[in-house]
Amino acid sequence: MSIDTATGEEAPAELSSERVKGIFSSIATKYERFNALSSFGAYRLWLAGMMRQAAIGPDDDVIDIAGGTGDVTFACARAKAPRHIQCTDLVPEMLAVARAHYADGAAGAVPVDFETVDAQDIPYPDASYDALTMAYGIRNMPERERALAEMFRVLRPGGTFTCLEFSTPPNRLWRGLYHFYLRHLIPFWGGLVTGDREGFVYLSRSIKAFPDQEAFAAMLRDAGFVDVAWKNYTGGIAAVHTARKPE
Ligand SMILES: C[S@@+](CC[C@H](N)C(=O)[O-])C[C@H]1O[C@@H](n2cnc3c(N)ncnc32)[C@H](O)[C@@H]1O
Repeated sequence: MSIDTATGEEAPAELSSERVKGIFSSIATKYERFNALSSFGAYRLWLAGMMRQAAIGPDDDVIDIAGGTGDVTFACARAKAPRHIQCTDLVPEMLAVARAHYADGAAGAVPVDFETVDAQDIPYPDASYDALTMAYGIRNMPERERALAEMFRVLRPGGTFTCLEFSTPPNRLWRGLYHFYLRHLIPFWGGLVTGDREGFVYLSRSIKAFPDQEAFAAMLRDAGFVDVAWKNYTGGIAAVHTARKPE
């Protein structure tokens, strides 16, 4: 099934794919500045948490899905020093920024390759990677079951999955405040920093429409993953889900 990622309602996949390509190709060079400002720097803490949760070793081949401007790829290179990272994303303009950071030495000695890849149709053979990372990617994908099936397929048996995504604060008061921030302040910040207010109306709506922690965990189990667990950050504004492909 494909959905409109802004509402969660059934809709043709092209609707969300074209919108997401439009948004990220136009904000690519301003994306990092917006992240830092809108989350008051919290995204750095969440990324560090993601790296603590990620079971990635020095001999691992890693694939970063929806790698964007390379934040997760470079954090992984620094924290885990794996054998190789394949940094992939749907939008070439985002990867162009990542490539520039790589040229400036952001990955240290870890070799990284970059390729434009739709996670819903990954062009790599089965069982190619030991570990998969993805931050803020799956929420933007209209065919989520298909994307998770593809991620499961390219992992080797025993391979690990680590996903950072916006989620749902369990506390009602905190959730109310957060949803107010999402609805009223995110479009304001986004418009100010990037000039693309509509892109940030989309961001807010897609966060609210995304399954909560338990529902996303169930999707992972349905895709075949085992040992599914999650850890909340900032009261559940963000969550890191971890899982493993069975041996
Ligand atoms: C919010 S950014 C996250 C980038 C990066 N992971 C980070 O943590 O900064 C979302 C990224 O998902 C990418 N994306 C959206 N749909 C995708 C798809 N179907 N396949 C691969 N990447 C996708 C977008 O191009 C964008 O770069």
